[in-house]
Amino acid sequence: MLGRITDRARTIAIVCNQWGDTGKGKFSDFFAANWADVIARGTGGNNAGHTVVIDGIRRIFHLIPAGIAYDKKTNILGNGMVIDLEVLCSELDDLDKAKIPYYNLMISEDANVIMPYHIERDRSKNTCMANGGIGSTGRGIGPAYSDKVARIGILMRDLYEPRAVADKLEKIKEYYPSQQIDTDMIMAGLRPFADRVRPYVKDTIREVQRFRQSGKRILLEGAQGLLLSIEYGTYPYVTSSDCSLNGTASGVGLSAKDVDICLGIVKFPFMTRVGSGPFPTELGGRVSEEYCAKGVEHDIRHELEKFDVPFTEAGGRIKYDHCHANILGLMNSADEFDQGVGIRLAAEEYGATTGRPRRTGWTDLVALKYAVGINGPDIILTKTDAVQGMDRFRLGIGYDNHSGFTRDSGKLYACGPVYREFAGFDGDIAQVSDYCSLPGNLLSAIGFLEGYTGANVRIVSVGPDQNETLIKP
Ligand code: IMP
Repeated sequence: MLGRITDRARTIAIVCNQWGDTGKGKFSDFFAANWADVIARGTGGNNAGHTVVIDGIRRIFHLIPAGIAYDKKTNILGNGMVIDLEVLCSELDDLDKAKIPYYNLMISEDANVIMPYHIERDRSKNTCMANGGIGSTGRGIGPAYSDKVARIGILMRDLYEPRAVADKLEKIKEYYPSQQIDTDMIMAGLRPFADRVRPYVKDTIREVQRFRQSGKRILLEGAQGLLLSIEYGTYPYVTSSDCSLNGTASGVGLSAKDVDICLGIVKFPFMTRVGSGPFPTELGGRVSEEYCAKGVEHDIRHELEKFDVPFTEAGGRIKYDHCHANILGLMNSADEFDQGVGIRLAAEEYGATTGRPRRTGWTDLVALKYAVGINGPDIILTKTDAVQGMDRFRLGIGYDNHSGFTRDSGKLYACGPVYREFAGFDGDIAQVSDYCSLPGNLLSAIGFLEGYTGANVRIVSVGPDQNETLIKP
């Protein structure tokens, strides 16, 4: 089924070409199940999240790659990651409960550890959105990477050298004199987690090289998205790692040129952003940004209740009809803010990690063209089914006061969108079984995207399930 996409490929990367949350999990899972021997993640930490369905039970993993559900596959947490040991151990508990063995798990000895004082610093006024910060996930990601670059980070391998940790903690106290750091308490807190993961801590850079040399198929699982990359994103509204193909490869000890095919995931024809930062095609503009900044105050339950969409709750999960007439009414409203809410409800765009409502807008082809220039032309379109039933949809094809994309957040904030409008499509496209049978106006919008951005659409995803995946012939 993967046919031409995986032909002769030995290393494949799955990354996101937007601001994250594009459905990488579905495709990591897809390639892990059908193709890869080794699944490796190289960037970020538990700011990411993907859902894995194991024996019909949905489990959200923030650190462990998608391949863990499949027997005999090696799963690697790479050198470029930052690891919260408590979160990692709770994911191991989940695997134990599901009776999933993880003897093939490897954790890079070079990965940095997220320490309690990183989380504290992240939740302080510097990054917290309520205090005018960028709206981080509050998981300690930025401070852990800051300490890595300042060469005072605690690495996984340090955990087994108490002297090394104690020395680094002394330096950290000098760096951050106002922060209360109790060395004994920290060491005692880390100990049980460090002991538990010790058998899996390895020189994964060497292991990855070995896997390559022995011809194993390696899947690189990206995190976040190119527009959130510290190198290529809308700085300072970015995460702290390079989540482009380049960073994803170097984060596991490879070079981007070792990657045979990089698949960039793209939500189409709408896209989302979480946290603050410019988003020229956002439906409802700054009003939507401020509304979503209220976080869980405007979570899924709030929006379903507000717009009278019936729902049920089972096992902590909310269920509702995503095509409910009230949702469709919002999507076809003349008011852009309401349209954005409608798309959020139709596509269930609420953070897997934080529960925050995601900001919604039309797919910005200017930004996509930029992303494709860095991550390469091959892309996968996702969530397209969410807008079925809309009278029309739009694609961003320019900005009113800037030519081309700009990483300069001030300038991007000042940009209004220029759109091209397309007629909507009816019917349940999740039922379509081959790419060429997609509605004609959807295919022509995809053709337009390819012409505009230089991308090559390889797959269109029309639903969350693996069989709702259409491969372009
Ligand atoms: P941090 O990664 O927690 O430092 O957050 C920095 C920015 O990246 C914030 O705007 C977050 O909302 C955003 N961010 C981090 N991880 C994700 C993700 O997995 N999906 C979408 N946005 C993310």
